[in-house]
Amino acid sequence: MKLNITCIPGDGIGPEIVREAKKVLDRTALKFGHEMIYTDILMGGASIDVHGVPLTDEAIQTAKNADAVLMGSIGGDTTTSPWYKLAPELRPEAGLLKIRKALNLFANLRPAVLYDELAAACPLKEEISKAGFDMLIMRELTGGLYFGERKTVTENGIRKAVDTLTYNEEEIRRIAVKGFDIARKRRKKVTSVDKANVLDSSRLWRAVVEEVAKNYPDVTLEHMLVDNCAMQLVKDPAQFDVILTENMFGDILSDEASMVTGSIGMLSSASLNDTKFGLYEPSHGSAPDIAGKNIANPIATVLSAAMMLRFTFDLDEEADAIESAVKQVLKEGFRTVDIMSEGCKKVSCSEMGDLLAQRIG
Ligand code: IPM
Ligand code: MG
Repeated sequence: MKLNITCIPGDGIGPEIVREAKKVLDRTALKFGHEMIYTDILMGGASIDVHGVPLTDEAIQTAKNADAVLMGSIGGDTTTSPWYKLAPELRPEAGLLKIRKALNLFANLRPAVLYDELAAACPLKEEISKAGFDMLIMRELTGGLYFGERKTVTENGIRKAVDTLTYNEEEIRRIAVKGFDIARKRRKKVTSVDKANVLDSSRLWRAVVEEVAKNYPDVTLEHMLVDNCAMQLVKDPAQFDVILTENMFGDILSDEASMVTGSIGMLSSASLNDTKFGLYEPSHGSAPDIAGKNIANPIATVLSAAMMLRFTFDLDEEADAIESAVKQVLKEGFRTVDIMSEGCKKVSCSEMGDLLAQRIG
């Protein structure tokens, strides 16, 4: 099979981790008889430096022509990087928001899993972490506060800023359907997270999610207020299977969930539209402080590549091979510095990529 993939190495550690993910993909292709065709595009700071904008229309077109996009990370240090002196719409993150919208990537899947081998890295008390957890945050990605009208004005000498939180029922329905569909392949539980005790958008969210749930009698639905959810994630993360939520709440809760695993360098993500197309990226950021040092953990990007094989290309066996390679290498005691613990063998970013590729066979 020919796999036509657009790569966005991006900024910070992005180029290093994407290089290792390609290494693992290439080995997988070799073993299973596929052909990988990569086309790189610039996004974020890397694009600003060359084109003056964080994402060009040509780059979007290249991505649209591919089957899937594999991304590293974008952005720099927001206090020191010159990119953050630019107008907001010219900063690195604007490129990410633009590609999400342009490719209609409304469904963002962020798994947060406690790996047995890394249980020691979990910051929760042992009595909580020993139950383990494996949840998936299904975050709406192209609506809500991120894409509502915004402005800053001065009225009677007083500065005022407005951001608008809007959802229509179609936007809610399509993400809810994705949430219930994926729950069916997991433990069949959806926790829909909102702020329905205050927000109209949340009350509509809850109503539409209830309607969708009627088509999934085999899936259990519960509603949870976002502030309570933030608490429950540290109190009893094992209760969650699929967390279904809107854009801003999903942004915040997914960072919390990843921190609770203690190993953010391990967490992948997928952003999907209503076709097989998807953008796959690690859940972590560009870590400018360690960029170029060959010490970043490439596993989240490698696992994102596995998600790509699974969701976009239906190559389950190949995705399994990558995921097993990750488990194998961890079991053998190899660790990048972020997940290092006593008695393990510390390896660099590229060494981790080599090990993973070798374990594919
Ligand atoms: C994320 C990031 C982005 C977001 C930023 C970089 C715009 O935090 O993917 O979670 O807020 O969506
Ligand atoms: Mg975020």
